[in-house]
Amino acid sequence: MPNIVTDFIAKLSLPFSSGGCDFLWEVSSKDSDYIFTRCEGEEFFILVKNKSPKFLIKGEKLSRPSQVIFLQRALREYAKKANCNILFDNTCSNRVKTKNPIIKEIDFFAQNFTFDKELFLEIGFGSGRHLLYQAKNNPDKLIIGVEIHKPSIEQAAKQCGILGLENVILVDYDSRILMEFLRSNSVSRIFIHFPVPWDKKPHRRVINPSFTDEALRVLKVGGTLELRTDSEEYFKYALDIFIQNAQSDIRILKNFDLEISSKYEDRWKRLEKNIYDITLTNTKLSPDNSALSRLDFDFLNNIDKIRQNFTPKLFVGDDFFVHFEEMHAGCKKVVIRTSFGASGRAEHMFIIVQEDKIAYFPNGAYTTKANKTAHEIMKKWLNG
Ligand SMILES: C[S@@+](CC[C@H](N)C(=O)[O-])C[C@H]1O[C@@H](n2cnc3c(N)ncnc32)[C@H](O)[C@@H]1O
Repeated sequence: MPNIVTDFIAKLSLPFSSGGCDFLWEVSSKDSDYIFTRCEGEEFFILVKNKSPKFLIKGEKLSRPSQVIFLQRALREYAKKANCNILFDNTCSNRVKTKNPIIKEIDFFAQNFTFDKELFLEIGFGSGRHLLYQAKNNPDKLIIGVEIHKPSIEQAAKQCGILGLENVILVDYDSRILMEFLRSNSVSRIFIHFPVPWDKKPHRRVINPSFTDEALRVLKVGGTLELRTDSEEYFKYALDIFIQNAQSDIRILKNFDLEISSKYEDRWKRLEKNIYDITLTNTKLSPDNSALSRLDFDFLNNIDKIRQNFTPKLFVGDDFFVHFEEMHAGCKKVVIRTSFGASGRAEHMFIIVQEDKIAYFPNGAYTTKANKTAHEIMKKWLNG
């Protein structure tokens, strides 16, 4: 991350503009000033941290601009205007990390709600052997791979490049929540191969009753949810959930080979463990759903009350949480740092409260079930 270290920094009065950057307003807390900055049409915070006897000027992580050069420029301009006596500056480094285009952000799924190809979805693809196999053998299908382990995503993306596979998109997200972004009756096959059994923390398992409902909703009629596991406990647990549906088409296999074996599978086979497959076929057409939108606030509030009464606060529900972490206050503005949503996939963002406006920053979270519940709690709390 670009940053500047200085042992002198003049206090600047805002707003001012310099070198194509607008420094608009600031809020402060304990040892940090958050400067709300605009550069090339993008808005973000830069942070001045007092690390006595030095000061660190850097970008704030939640509101990073799309290109690091915007942040580098803003840091340099601010330091120049504040007459900094610079001890360290890496803002001229041009090591720009390019992102592999097949790795998508969750926004991609909200915006591309409808895909023109038949979809396969692989959950927790790990080393990616099975995902690559499916992509190679089904050039007419789009294979969506969802993983929470970043190195696995990077590795699979690299392999897709080497193999010239253009029918894969990968996303770093909790698969249980990704399902909410997908259109009803749109997916032909969902693979869950060797999910972590989480015997001691079953709430972390990918398969649970609400995930299964969502999987059946996104599957086409005749589409399949395919679980492959070496864990007898997980097999029985999943079967118990699958059989709860009023109508269930379930097929079970024990110790059958697939065309391709994953690294995990090779290991379990060497240990002569049993391998179980359950295929749950969807038999019903589900009602259409609409694309998720962004949450927003629709009310004005009393900024002074928030400023006076704020204390960090954590609310925990069955399937959501809200954490008001800290407040930064400035002239006519209050910025609250929050995390909220589903415990498996927390949203981290600011709420900017002004006299006549309240908004999430940098963007509102998507209207997933957990986010909507959390948002209602936040609205109540912000209204006192
Ligand atoms: C035991 S590995 C199996 C990997 C691969 N399917 C295989 O057969 O080799 C389980 C994988 O699921 C991923 N995972 C765990 N929870 C997940 C979730 N909620 N959403 C997406 N991936 C998840 C883990 O990061 C891990 O790579």
